[in-house]
Amino acid sequence: MAEGDIALRVDGATCYFDVSPSWLTRVVERSPKRTLRAVDGVSFEVPRGKTLSVVGESGCGKSTLARMVVGLQVPTAGTLAFTPIDKPDGTSVPPRLQMIFQDPYASLNPRWRVGDIVSEPIRELGLMEGETAIQDRIGELLGIVGLSPSDASRYPHEFSGGQRQRISIARALATEADFLVCDEPTSALDVSVQAQILNLMRRLQAEFGLTYLFISHNLSVVRHMSDQIAIMYLGRFVEVGPAEQVFSDPRHPYTRLLLETIPNVENPIRDRRPMSGEVPSPIAPPPGCPFHPRCPMAEARCQVERPLLRGDARLTACHLV
Ligand SMILES: Nc1ncnc2c1ncn2[C@@H]1O[C@H](COP(=O)(O)OP(=O)(O)OP(=O)(O)O)[C@@H](O)[C@H]1O
Ligand code: SF4
Ligand SMILES: [Mg+2]
Repeated sequence: MAEGDIALRVDGATCYFDVSPSWLTRVVERSPKRTLRAVDGVSFEVPRGKTLSVVGESGCGKSTLARMVVGLQVPTAGTLAFTPIDKPDGTSVPPRLQMIFQDPYASLNPRWRVGDIVSEPIRELGLMEGETAIQDRIGELLGIVGLSPSDASRYPHEFSGGQRQRISIARALATEADFLVCDEPTSALDVSVQAQILNLMRRLQAEFGLTYLFISHNLSVVRHMSDQIAIMYLGRFVEVGPAEQVFSDPRHPYTRLLLETIPNVENPIRDRRPMSGEVPSPIAPPPGCPFHPRCPMAEARCQVERPLLRGDARLTACHLV
């Protein structure tokens, strides 16, 4: 595997939803068709073995983008292309994708024992033969995620939220996935448990060369997880860059606002300013720069002219940058 291999190339990914009222209502009330632009022409690459995090407020299109990547949502336009992985025998196969969700409880079958949950993909995909080998593998996977092999005989409800997320990670590893799409995997957990799961995910990435597309509404959560960070606003990326640079030198006014709303541990009260204004509707996004109604730096031009995402290693969509 060459250094700097690209695992996923996304070009102009777009997802529009038709949210029109019913045909009858439209005729009676003379209302037009309505389109919700959930994701509006997003392009990026994820290098193999690295993490790209997508950060933005609720409703900006993060989950829709994640669903397009794993194939649960058909794009309205654009392409998403995974680079095949070369195998030692000379063949190449598409990467195995797995999604990790915010609420592991909803994605784990409550009537199944943990051992059956973890081994299901092994059996389903025919990855291993022989009951002893499969049982050994279950124990090994549970150990890798910090659980005990004896947990295999227990049920999901017997575990805490963090432990349940470990089970869903063990299940993802059982599929021999190389690309994990993680949609807010820790946002339902307490801060200390969050940190443990993030550390586990980083360790697994280093150990197995996993590639992550990581979704979060919280910039501080992704800081130490990410190689690259993309800031998303109303279906578009407004800033993309190496994680540390986005933190130390945020360029887009929206990124700066997101950073200001992160609580400061040393001075929790003084440094916390609420983000001003509501997120506009993706059905009728503001003209010009979509961020202008909330932007402290907006100029006359921002109301009419949409800034394009420009730059080299750092991309920003703002007239003033
Ligand atoms: N199937 C659908 N039909 C219509 N609208 C949808 C559909 N799925 C998502 N949307 C809308 O698309 C927009 C983006 O939704 P999405 O779930 O991708 O946002 P998000 O960034 O993941 O938000 P959150 O942080 O709350 O999870 C929202 O306005 C949402 O209401
Ligand atoms: S283009 Fe204008 S409104 Fe948009 S972020 Fe930049 S300064 Fe603010
Ligand atoms: Mg979401």
